[in-house]
Amino acid sequence: MRFSSVVKAASAVAFATLVAAEGDSDVLSLTASTFESTVNPESLILVEFFAPWCGHCKALAPHYEEAATTLKEKNIKLAKVDCVEQADLCQSHGVQGYPTLKVFHDGEPSDYTGPRKADGIISYMIKQSLPAVSEVTVANLEEFQKADKIVVLAYLPTPTSSPAPEFSAAANKHRDSYLFGLTSDPEAIAAAGVTPPAIVVYRAFDDPSVEYPYPVPSATVKDIEEWVQDLSIPIIDEVNGENFSIYAQSGKPLAYLFLDPTEEKRDDYIESIRPIATKFKGKVNFVWIDAIKFGDHAKSLNLAEAKWPSFVVQDLEHQLKYPYDQSLTVEPEAVSELVEQFLAGKLEPQLKSQAIPETQDESVYTVVGKNFDEVVYDDSKDVFLELYATWCGHCKRLKPTWDSLGDHFAGVKDRLVIAKIDAPENDLPPSVPFRVSSFPTLKFKPAGSREFLDYNGDRSLESLIAYVEESAKNSLEPKVVVEGENDTQVVFEAHDEL
Ligand SMILES: *[C@@H]1O[C@H](CO)[C@@H](O)[C@H](O)[C@H]1NC(C)=O
Ligand SMILES: *[C@@H]1O[C@H](CO)[C@@H](O)[C@H](O)[C@H]1NC(C)=O
Repeated sequence: MRFSSVVKAASAVAFATLVAAEGDSDVLSLTASTFESTVNPESLILVEFFAPWCGHCKALAPHYEEAATTLKEKNIKLAKVDCVEQADLCQSHGVQGYPTLKVFHDGEPSDYTGPRKADGIISYMIKQSLPAVSEVTVANLEEFQKADKIVVLAYLPTPTSSPAPEFSAAANKHRDSYLFGLTSDPEAIAAAGVTPPAIVVYRAFDDPSVEYPYPVPSATVKDIEEWVQDLSIPIIDEVNGENFSIYAQSGKPLAYLFLDPTEEKRDDYIESIRPIATKFKGKVNFVWIDAIKFGDHAKSLNLAEAKWPSFVVQDLEHQLKYPYDQSLTVEPEAVSELVEQFLAGKLEPQLKSQAIPETQDESVYTVVGKNFDEVVYDDSKDVFLELYATWCGHCKRLKPTWDSLGDHFAGVKDRLVIAKIDAPENDLPPSVPFRVSSFPTLKFKPAGSREFLDYNGDRSLESLIAYVEESAKNSLEPKVVVEGENDTQVVFEAHDEL
């Protein structure tokens, strides 16, 4: 998505100059001749396949070095393979992009899906080194409760009491994200001050411990995972490119407070919103964000002015935006009211749109946010729509072909519209059943229908013409008005034999 690519690009620049010094490294360098003999005997090892020219690899390098040094103490090794020197080795491991990170357990590879910052890599690899559910006793109880940002601990009368199987299954599913433990040691249970069966989440933020509030023995995998996921999101915290995915995965609407981080009253603003964030917890996630660094993100959320603080709710599921009026100052009561209205479905999303063009004299029709309904949902017409972005190379290459397609069907404009829309500059109305993330996206909407068909064929003019001819519901024969027959208004279609 756009936000994360912006962030990745920014951090690549920031770290490009910080490549770790060669030689004095805790990261093992592997070659075709040392790979198997190094990797296979390890119960756990992380391998980075990289290319020396790759920006993201350079950004990762200092973090990878730092993680290797810390993890060395825990006997967890980190290694790397230079895919320019070891092209065959990388190919045999199916490496398609850089960097590719793989975790090997006794030589068995799986994809690394963790963060790319040192603390994130360390936390992820430690969780990998433990069983999905760690056994906890009074001896390691306190240490375990604090061993990660989020620790989920079940206190059960016996190791197999309900809901032990469901708890294990949830742990297996989410072992990369959270640390799970189970104890049936009476001393540990007494020390924790809980009555078994109980499940407690220990956190490094907000309420440090939260007990599962529903009947524990009947908790299902879904109950446990949803509860933990909710608790993993702080009441209000900073969001950036590294941890945006936590919020994206939750899928809940996201309320942003955009702030200038150097602003003196920054923390006062955050604290003024905290009670509101607490009130809507579980329904809307609240974050604050660096408005200077992520100005483009503010723009994409339809905050037109660079005026901070600003507030906006984003419906992630439908990609709709509900900005707080930027001509007003951000007041907690008004923010609360806006969120309330939003949840009640009483708020109109703000749709971004370019101005409707005054004339349409090209053979390709220019659609914008404001005329989308009128043009694309015109039931009498077949519409073939290109959603493009100005910065997209494939879109630039498609342009002459798309123009030719418009020219080819210019004679039947009244029944078939070849159209284009600059997608990043125009929001699709809520009624449109799809959202686009890659460009160009080509969608065909047949006449008399509100369905959109995906065009996945090749982008040659011939293929596009053939597709249109096959998919159009209207006749694409040029119409001929026969002279002298105006009184009866006979209009018929020209056929090949005419
Ligand atoms: C996201 O990253 C920022 C900056 O490192 C950090 O302060 C914040 O706690 C993180 N947010 C979450 C939800 O982890
Ligand atoms: C038929 O009608 C059209 C407009 O409706 C007009 O332009 C055209 O001149 C008419 N033709 C004749 C032969 O009357």
